[in-house]
Amino acid sequence: MTRETWATRIGFILAAVGSAVGLGNIWRFPWVTAENGGSAFLVVYLFIVLAIGVPGLLGEFVIGRRAKRNPVGALESLSGSRAWGYVGGLSVVTAVALLSFYSVVGGWILRYFVESVAAVGTAGGAPFFADPGPYFDGAAFGAQAVAYHLLFLALTAGIVVAGVRRGIELGTKAMMPAIVVLLVALAVWAATRPNAAAGYAFYLRFDLATVRENFFSILGPAAGQALFTLSVGAGTMITYASYLGEDQSLPMDATTIAVLNTFVGVLAGLVVFPLLFAQGIDPASTGTGEGALFVGLAGAFAQLPAGSLIAAAFFGVVTLAALSSSISMLEIPVAVLVDEYDLTRRRATAALFGLIAVTGAVNGLAPAVFGFVAGTLVDLLLTAGLAAFLLFVGWVLGRDALAEFETGAGPLARRFATPWLFAAGVAIPLFLVFTLLTGFGLRAAVGFWPTVALAVVVGVATFAGLRGQKSVV
Ligand code: PFF
Repeated sequence: MTRETWATRIGFILAAVGSAVGLGNIWRFPWVTAENGGSAFLVVYLFIVLAIGVPGLLGEFVIGRRAKRNPVGALESLSGSRAWGYVGGLSVVTAVALLSFYSVVGGWILRYFVESVAAVGTAGGAPFFADPGPYFDGAAFGAQAVAYHLLFLALTAGIVVAGVRRGIELGTKAMMPAIVVLLVALAVWAATRPNAAAGYAFYLRFDLATVRENFFSILGPAAGQALFTLSVGAGTMITYASYLGEDQSLPMDATTIAVLNTFVGVLAGLVVFPLLFAQGIDPASTGTGEGALFVGLAGAFAQLPAGSLIAAAFFGVVTLAALSSSISMLEIPVAVLVDEYDLTRRRATAALFGLIAVTGAVNGLAPAVFGFVAGTLVDLLLTAGLAAFLLFVGWVLGRDALAEFETGAGPLARRFATPWLFAAGVAIPLFLVFTLLTGFGLRAAVGFWPTVALAVVVGVATFAGLRGQKSVV
């Protein structure tokens, strides 16, 4: 059977933007920003998106398009070594971990959407308007959360089973414009709310002193958030690029995707922050944790005559954004089973549905598991995954990666080819190893400079070990 490809160039871009734009932009971004000093965080985060995210995306694209296989098959076939296949196997673990918690959050959103729709036109609005705090806390984990997780996972599987063109491409083509139109409408409406200006002030002010003081403590969370929001490090972008033809400029596509993703993230902030402040909720004090979006915004919607309708629009947008991301997670292991084990797409999807139904249910029942998976585990897997992919690009692909980078690229992009390869092989993995170490409390335990020294030693040892490979560095 011939492997599917995207029908159109824009189809691939929208699918990749759809993967990037998700709960990371709308749900995780506001509270990670709030926890890490507001706009100070935003600046560092934007820098990391440019310096790490775009080259990282490109690295995954280069691997995927060159191999035209899933991450396991891609690393194995391009290197000719089984060991690299196992490294690629990390992406299956990452995909399952991601989807196990993501589907629970998707389920929460879906529940709010369903209840808002059901309440349109009724007096008093959706049930969570009455008392958003307990409504969220009381039902966030438990049987109801599991039920909605299964529903969300079923929707995800329903799109993936329809295939690359008829499922993922068609689905994201319909979802992405709807997301942007609804978000713009909500942002315009949010601007008319009382005290909206205070929300913008918190979100957009440029405070250099804060950036300087907190630089090292926000680096780790900023890097984690940048990887998560761009969907890099999991192998999703390897998988999506494996369905590409040769005619596309990968640097151009990577840049477009990062720009569009950032645009939606900033736009989501322009909805969320004015609404929180209109409610008198200060994100820096009460807006932390996974309930912020629900509790804060439900309260804002409750104050409006057409609250249920607006809530339905908002949670509808978030559901679509979550779905266009969750399908990209599921597609990774589905592609592995289809390419490597000759399963039909239908069987592969069904098997993974069964697995993630269970792992997701555990997340939906146990807050401690959920917290660990959604935070530490995902940050760790994405960071390690991206470092591995980029080391592969720099040290195993070497010049072949340059050729892939340059295919279809214009003169401007070509000028960045060699610096990019160097960044992929050396600078970015070093940085990622460093953030990993700081993320694990190493810095707190041994101090800042020993951590840097250790990161350098680990980095150098890694490169020394890979020296035997075909390399350009
Ligand atoms: N980028 C998605 C978001 O911001 O919600 C999350 C994500 C999707 C992460 C796919 C990783 C991935 F492979």
